[in-house]
Amino acid sequence: MKQGSHVILKKSLEEGKAKGFQVKIRGKIHYGLVVRKQEKFYAYRNECRHLSITLDLNDEQFFNAEGTHLQCQMHGATYEIENGECIAGPCVGSRLERLEIQIEENRLVVQFKEESK
Ligand code: FES
Repeated sequence: MKQGSHVILKKSLEEGKAKGFQVKIRGKIHYGLVVRKQEKFYAYRNECRHLSITLDLNDEQFFNAEGTHLQCQMHGATYEIENGECIAGPCVGSRLERLEIQIEENRLVVQFKEESK
């Protein structure tokens, strides 16, 4: 299994915001996202469970209008930030794929596994 990682400075991610990133493994680009909520960090593969596309369609719009949930911009699948569960939309009950995060003093290191799907 091949792995990649992505480093994000904690201070670059404000409370209540999300950031997308890319990791290249064996020439293929994989998309991820990190969310900061109530001083906790959550990372997921940036791929909707309905269709294999990024939630934000690559424009960094990850949330619903209220800012309470992650939401796919294509058909509105709505996901819990804390566990990635889809609670509304075409793929209710499925979950975003969680990525492991190492939290260090000033930065986050998100681990990405090529074959973790
Ligand atoms: S592709 Fe995400 S809800 Fe349809």
